[in-house]
Amino acid sequence: MTVSEFRARKGAGDALVCVTAYDAPFARLAERAGVDALLVGDSVGRTVLGHANELPVTVDDIVHHTAAVTRAVTSTLVIADLPYMSYATGDIALRNAARLLQAGGADAVKLEGGAESAAVTAALTSRGIPVMAHVGLTPQTAHALGGYRVQGVRLSAAQAIVDGARAQADAGAFAIVLELIPAGLARAITEHMDIPTIGIGAGPYCDGQIQVIYDLLGFAETTHRHTRVFADVGGMVQSALADYTRDVRRGTFPAPEQNFKGNRGVLDRLNFD
Ligand code: KIV
Repeated sequence: MTVSEFRARKGAGDALVCVTAYDAPFARLAERAGVDALLVGDSVGRTVLGHANELPVTVDDIVHHTAAVTRAVTSTLVIADLPYMSYATGDIALRNAARLLQAGGADAVKLEGGAESAAVTAALTSRGIPVMAHVGLTPQTAHALGGYRVQGVRLSAAQAIVDGARAQADAGAFAIVLELIPAGLARAITEHMDIPTIGIGAGPYCDGQIQVIYDLLGFAETTHRHTRVFADVGGMVQSALADYTRDVRRGTFPAPEQNFKGNRGVLDRLNFD
């Protein structure tokens, strides 16, 4: 999947399927499952690194996790998030995006914001760096938005999201994430834009969907209405580790089949004096 193929899927009637990935095993499994694009999101801060939110995540963190993901996949589009304050100006964004592409191996970058980030998107796209935009609930500015809550409910807020999405498309973004906005607003934006909209908590009318992989697999400590646990892998991991703990304490693990035979003559001649 290339950026142009991703963009060309707009209106093709075949939903674009995206999920976050932060390491090689999950990236490999997502590719085998047929996912179209992987996002190495700054959600890695909350989901993997144990931070309370996305703000402490650094460009080094994203480079490290992006490299793990890109080493594991062959045909899936990999998009790397520009973390908090790593794209405050066009120059800073160019330097950091280049690292995500060169050292991380990403195909594209994602940044948050509508009209206020459009100049940065233009700076990147004019240098040939593909940009996925992200409007609605933008976690890096959640404090200013009043927390993790649905955006674009009132007319002025909905209009600002529409204007921001258009500014990003005009600046050259190849796709746009719509996060936590009413389904009707997401539908209107999707119908009026010629780049794919990728929803998360934005209803079924977007051109594609994205979810945080750990939310889908039962690892999240808190549940969100916009997601679904497709398999409680988190629960399975806990139960497997509880079995391991029990068997080690009972002395039933390791069992004979996990042991290796040595040379009896060696044991007889060991000296512990
Ligand atoms: O960082 C992330 O995981 C994201 C998605 C939720 C879109 O930005």
